Amino acid sequence: MMLEAENLTMRFGGVTAVDSLSLEVPENEIIALIGPNGAGKTTVFNMITGTYAPTSGKITFRGRDITARNPSYIAKQGIGRTFQNIRLFKGLTVFENVITAKHLHLKSNLFQAVFRISGLSPYPAEERKFIEETESLLEKLDLLDLRDATSTSLPYGKQRRLEIARALATNPSLLLLDEPAAGMNPQETIELARFIERIRDEFKITILLIEHHMDLVMDISKNIYVMDFGVNIAVGSPAEIQGDRRVIEAYLGSGD
Ligand SMILES: Nc1ncnc2c1ncn2[C@@H]1O[C@H](COP(=O)(O)OP(=O)(O)O)[C@@H](O)[C@H]1O
Ligand SMILES: [Mg+2]
Repeated sequence: MMLEAENLTMRFGGVTAVDSLSLEVPENEIIALIGPNGAGKTTVFNMITGTYAPTSGKITFRGRDITARNPSYIAKQGIGRTFQNIRLFKGLTVFENVITAKHLHLKSNLFQAVFRISGLSPYPAEERKFIEETESLLEKLDLLDLRDATSTSLPYGKQRRLEIARALATNPSLLLLDEPAAGMNPQETIELARFIERIRDEFKITILLIEHHMDLVMDISKNIYVMDFGVNIAVGSPAEIQGDRRVIEAYLGSGD
């Protein structure tokens, strides 16, 4: 297993946001985490990436216990993520957004990162390597023609793609995508499905996906975990989940 969570629990005061969740993510697969709003999905990502220390339970990544380690340590182990709400640097171009992610990964210093892309780098050789890697990544993701466009000038679907490019800039082996299709139209959603499969194959990475667009989830997931009020109510293949009564009830909110 690339990632394993055992009995993961997160309480906020009296609220149990995640209740004893166990999860397995095999290498090179796309695994989905679904459930109604407030089910605890994003909290799971926040525990995996070290934003929150779990109240109890254990997280293992490539055989190593990463429970409650800090976000920078976990990112360096090879876990990248995107956020439910787009978090791009608004004033920066496509190219700058991606190269800044590389610098931040190394330096954890935004000022230094921005200073360096201004061309005043004290390490020109390292800088050239970063520039080449960034351009090659943009090319692979069909974003190179938008290299110098300001991130906010991009159509919504491309901004989501740029977020994924930023997450890939640090060469993760596991990518966590939090509602990447949110706000997309049906055509953009179909393109995103192919895009996610392509990055799994081209970058040889594993993907854990939170998503509400059921067509997308059913189309690309190997296995689906369903959460409701913090509890994992079902796990199985897309076909198994589609026919599961508890899942249908959780979404429809009624017993019939
Ligand atoms: N930092 C926090 N402090 C208090 N409650 C939180 C915090 N983060 C999440 N929660 C609560 O945990 C529950 C699950 O939230 P979340 O993980 O964002 O759900 P989802 O992503 O499935 O919509 C919600 O009741 C939410 O209000
Ligand atoms: Mg969420």
